[in-house]
Amino acid sequence: MKIKPFQIVILISGNGSNLQAIIDQIEDNDLPIQIAAVISNKADAYGLQRADIAGIATRVIDNKAYESRDAFDAAVQQTIDKYAPDLVVLAGFMRILTDDFVNHYLGKMINIHPSLLPEYRGLNTHQRAIDDKKKHHGASVHYVTPELDDGPIILQSAVSIDENDDATSLAQKVHREEHRIYPLAIRWIAERRLQWKQGEIYLDGEKLESPKIYQELDC
Ligand code: GRF
Repeated sequence: MKIKPFQIVILISGNGSNLQAIIDQIEDNDLPIQIAAVISNKADAYGLQRADIAGIATRVIDNKAYESRDAFDAAVQQTIDKYAPDLVVLAGFMRILTDDFVNHYLGKMINIHPSLLPEYRGLNTHQRAIDDKKKHHGASVHYVTPELDDGPIILQSAVSIDENDDATSLAQKVHREEHRIYPLAIRWIAERRLQWKQGEIYLDGEKLESPKIYQELDC
């Protein structure tokens, strides 16, 4: 009997380089993960073309066509739920989500954020890290909870900030790390190695008291 692949739905708003990294990992490693659909709130998001090329179903739900955040989130939720995914993956989805939406997918929705959370929640993380003369910066994969960029952190990867880094060069470095850690975290969840239990997360049965650090992993 063929095992049903782990189904994910990915939400994007733009370039979709993380989406591409996930597509590539699934294809290259023959992972039993299926991207059931890619949903974008922007019709011109380049990630939609990436999905098309990979033969993945796409949907556009334009937030501007909705009167309120609640109405938009309800439409997105309805669309996602048609695919009954095991996991919802936010990959550069530039919308603040309502609590109802987040709670509907609690423990089943993850995000990637360009900072070493809990530092630099929100936007412009690269410039803020440079302005603060930080030596390190990075990316975090975390479960989504109603508080912005605040859910339990699964995996992080750090980069050093060099003297001549600007926001653009730093963003490039961080993106490279994002492309490593996001597919890996999804893989852990699909393999049921990583589990959410009432707001706490467990890796291989052990409670994760602090995020896993990519550079310290044996892979
Ligand atoms: C990434 O930097 C991610 O951390 C943030 O949005 C950006 C999306 O980039 N949440 P891309 O569209 O995947 O290239």
